[in-house]
Amino acid sequence: VALLIVAPDRDTGPLVEEIRSLAPEIEISTWPGSELSEPIDFAVVWQQPPGLLGRLKGLKAVSSLGAGVEHLLTDPDLPDHVAIGRLAGPRLAANMAAYLVGQVIKDWKRLDQFSRWQAHQQWRPWAPETPPLVGLLGLGAMGSVTATAFQALDIPVAGYTRSGNGPKGLDLYRGEAGLHQLAQQADYLICLLPLTPQTRGILNGRLFSVMKPGSMLINVGRGEHLVEPDLIPALDAGRPARALLDVFTEEPLPEDHRFWTHPAIRITPHCASITLAAEAAELIVASYRQVQSGHPPLGLVDRQRVY
Ligand SMILES: NC(=O)c1ccc[n+]([C@@H]2O[C@H](COP(=O)([O-])OP(=O)(O)OC[C@H]3O[C@@H](n4cnc5c(N)ncnc54)[C@H](OP(=O)(O)O)[C@@H]3O)[C@@H](O)[C@H]2O)c1
Repeated sequence: VALLIVAPDRDTGPLVEEIRSLAPEIEISTWPGSELSEPIDFAVVWQQPPGLLGRLKGLKAVSSLGAGVEHLLTDPDLPDHVAIGRLAGPRLAANMAAYLVGQVIKDWKRLDQFSRWQAHQQWRPWAPETPPLVGLLGLGAMGSVTATAFQALDIPVAGYTRSGNGPKGLDLYRGEAGLHQLAQQADYLICLLPLTPQTRGILNGRLFSVMKPGSMLINVGRGEHLVEPDLIPALDAGRPARALLDVFTEEPLPEDHRFWTHPAIRITPHCASITLAAEAAELIVASYRQVQSGHPPLGLVDRQRVY
């Protein structure tokens, strides 16, 4: 078998169909459903069970089926010599930017209130005076496209990165002091960081205590970026005033979780941007061909840097 797709939580049928139509010569198998007894060159993996990666013979490279790679970096069964890649294509990034621009504009322009006024036949013209400052934590594959989308609307953007580097035209911050400086000014603070030992729990009570009063926190990174017990006391104190959460420590979010009913929390079920079969198939075929010709997979992850 040349290509193995491991995704026990989803129907991989449409993805396999797309790959077959693009590259009929690639021999594909999926798990669950295969014995794993044949050698495998390249595995594309999401939510693999413990021990599975250690059973794959002849593996040259793996790729995450999505943008996040923490499930691969933390898997003790993945041999050190196997290169890790990920799928973070232009459609995934554009869909993330669309979600974030949509959510920020809806909140900033208070678009919901017009429905309430319409229900009472009230004619109340209203628009905000000045654009908000958007603070983006992480300016990688998702963050850089999101920054450009806000800038196209003349909405100012500032960014926080590990190196302090990022696209031109943005105020950039680094280090804990830099993060706090950004949080003091941002009207919307958006987490688009990869999950690493350094970023786990970065959205915590200490950060909230310096956020701009009236601001909104948006987490579309990973649930573990947020110290969940710190959020409700912070919202009750008004810093931030509102939170929009797409990702959670436990998914699906348990029915009795307090986040569901808190008036200042908006929830979407981890769908800010989802990997679409058509784009994933194109990227998998391109990545597979790179691996077959002796090159690293697409979106090569730096194992030392852990993203
Ligand atoms: N909710 C959804 O539907 C959804 C969809 C897609 C992706 N995601 C998530 O979105 C997040 C971003 O994805 P991505 O592909 O854009 O990630 P990425 O390309 O790996 O992000 C790299 C960016 O994060 C910065 N960074 C890394 N570690 C840092 C640290 N310790 N301190 C400050 N900045 C740090 C990097 O700084 P340097 O530039 O200095 O290296 C770079 O700007 C991931 O968590 C991913 O899982 C969620």
